[in-house]
Amino acid sequence: MKVVITRKMPDSTVALLAEHCDVYMWPDEHEPISRHKLMEQITDADALFTNVTDRIDRELLDAAPRLKVISTMAVGFNNIDVAEATRRGIPVGHTPEVLTEAVADLTFALLLATARRVVAGMAFIREDRWKAWGPMLLTGQNVYGATIGIIGMGRIGEGVARRARGFGMNILYCNRSRKETAEQALGAAYCSLDELLKRSDYVVMLAPSTKETFRMIGAREFALMKPNAIFINTSRGTNVDEAAMIEALRTGQIWGAGLDVFETEPIRPDHPLFALDNVVMLPHIGSATVETRLKMAEIAALNILAGLKGEPLPYRVNP
Ligand code: DGY
Repeated sequence: MKVVITRKMPDSTVALLAEHCDVYMWPDEHEPISRHKLMEQITDADALFTNVTDRIDRELLDAAPRLKVISTMAVGFNNIDVAEATRRGIPVGHTPEVLTEAVADLTFALLLATARRVVAGMAFIREDRWKAWGPMLLTGQNVYGATIGIIGMGRIGEGVARRARGFGMNILYCNRSRKETAEQALGAAYCSLDELLKRSDYVVMLAPSTKETFRMIGAREFALMKPNAIFINTSRGTNVDEAAMIEALRTGQIWGAGLDVFETEPIRPDHPLFALDNVVMLPHIGSATVETRLKMAEIAALNILAGLKGEPLPYRVNP
């Protein structure tokens, strides 16, 4: 059996797989495998260990007649043509749950950093612009007691709501369906998207990337938000119309944004977002703690091993 791993993984993960199969691993941790190399390696592969930067589409699956399982080291799987994999009887695994708290932490870190101008404050000192205490110097927005609107009340949404509760926030949410557990345990109030946008000081995007959520926040939605609103996105950049967001930030229609994800990643320093001083940006590191990433890699490997044995995957995406 051969498994293809598309990015350099920790030794413990490789060892787990190497006990049972031959492993081809792309040797770079930061640079993704080229399409050409992946197409070449996949031809005799039985399993594919992938991640958010690889496009797993029909062309790739056509080139992989032996493929028995696909496992992504992520909770999101929008880079994989799951319908096509399902049609071919290939199980697709992912790594939910273990990253919930890490992503909720990072979401809240972005919210606080944007609201309280943490990054601008650091730059201010570094650039030697700090001459004296100033009454309105680097003033931000209140977090404690403010209203947070969570779009997508899944596991991570609930994690963010738990943190928001500790900050005395009024919690609104919208979701495909009502989550009574979140309402009872966290005091979150269900409302329509429009109502959430109109009432929230913090609008937090946590919906998965699907056809339905593609650019679900655009010019109309930004126009509904309050002028002091801060938009946070730690899900997928494609859920937002980036040009409309930039316009809303540029014209002061909203107050700021904290972004871990972008329409096209990675963004380069000439991206129009860099012209704005009301944005905090991170390079898609929502789940990036050592413990979480090691656990995600392990689960991705366990999904592979189960798939190769024809057993149920610990975390399977497709039916
Ligand atoms: C995920 O898990 O979907 C993240 O975006 C990658 O860590």
